[in-house]
Amino acid sequence: MLPFSIFAFMATLHQEFLPSAYTNTVTSGSVAWKSPSNIALVKYWGKHGQQLPKNASISFTLDHCATSTRLDFSQKESTGFVITVLLDGKVQEDFVPKIEKFFNVAKPYLPFLEQYSFTLHTSNSFPHSSGIASSASGMSALALCLLDLEDQLRDAPMNADAFRRKASFLARLGSGSASRSIDGGLVVWGEHPEVEGSSDLFAVQYPEEVHPVFQDYCDTVLLVDTGEKVVSSTVGHGLMHGHPFAEQRFAQANANLKAIKPILAKGDLEAFMALVESEALSLHAMMLSSSPYFILMKPATLAIINRIWSFRKETGVPACFTLDAGANVHLLYPAIHKEAVRNLIDAELKAHCKNGAYIHDGVGKGAVRL
Ligand code: DP6
Repeated sequence: MLPFSIFAFMATLHQEFLPSAYTNTVTSGSVAWKSPSNIALVKYWGKHGQQLPKNASISFTLDHCATSTRLDFSQKESTGFVITVLLDGKVQEDFVPKIEKFFNVAKPYLPFLEQYSFTLHTSNSFPHSSGIASSASGMSALALCLLDLEDQLRDAPMNADAFRRKASFLARLGSGSASRSIDGGLVVWGEHPEVEGSSDLFAVQYPEEVHPVFQDYCDTVLLVDTGEKVVSSTVGHGLMHGHPFAEQRFAQANANLKAIKPILAKGDLEAFMALVESEALSLHAMMLSSSPYFILMKPATLAIINRIWSFRKETGVPACFTLDAGANVHLLYPAIHKEAVRNLIDAELKAHCKNGAYIHDGVGKGAVRL
């Protein structure tokens, strides 16, 4: 008889993502994907269980900020995982534990993981030390490569929808926000009554009406701080357990996701800016009121925010900011205001950036096979 714990474990598995028996033998090969980063408008901050979000979130998929990964694999006899990671051609031993942890949770859904040795050749389009979250683009690129290999082990490839859904499901197991980096445009992760098809298990492309102004929205990432973060996202999420304002924050995020629906449909930029900036500051307010508390913003972050506000007041240009779990500022604006905003960046904002660095990006189309 199987011990109870094995039954309990099987019951927690999501049957939809367990593969049927493989039919093909593939001894070695190589697959490659390019996957983008994303920027959340309504933020994910707080999780439970196996990488399940405490509230729903929505993000713009980015275009230029992306990770390209080539996964070389060859069959092996031994048990255990064999993983080598190269970033820009250089072996990175410190990346391996995170990938091993991901392999451990992904193993039931990708049962071939112990049967191959893997070498990941990865590179980011953004500077390595830019402080831009590479876990979303990196984990989604890896999930896509592994699924591509799984497709080769079957008689017929999965249909495109099932493939993207399982890719998002797997990416989520590696890093929550990575689930939102498979599809392009606006993407929702987390079950929400107002978003049809939404799920805690994987992200979906936002299925509702979107005003054309958001289809080519611009995001310039102002690189304020390019060093290692003082508190990682994973630790920050953990501090939401027992946080005095946690429940209110989760309710606020879900309410904001409901509120953003008519805003996105009508192209109401005033309401969009108010909601997005409030989300960013609420996220950082959670950090300020965690125990232990921490601050990820820097003086330059605040200087940039204040200048964006005064610029908006002076010119009427609808430019606003959002923040990740870090000091960098994402400056969001409609494409028709590119020139005015980019003049401001060059004339003033870049002076607050580390080495004057920034990245012009915008809404992208999602991950692509290379
Ligand atoms: C502030 O996805 O990096 O960017 O699930 O622990 O890998 P893990 O965390 P991560 O958290 C991202 C948090 C955020 C907001 C967001 O992207 O929604």
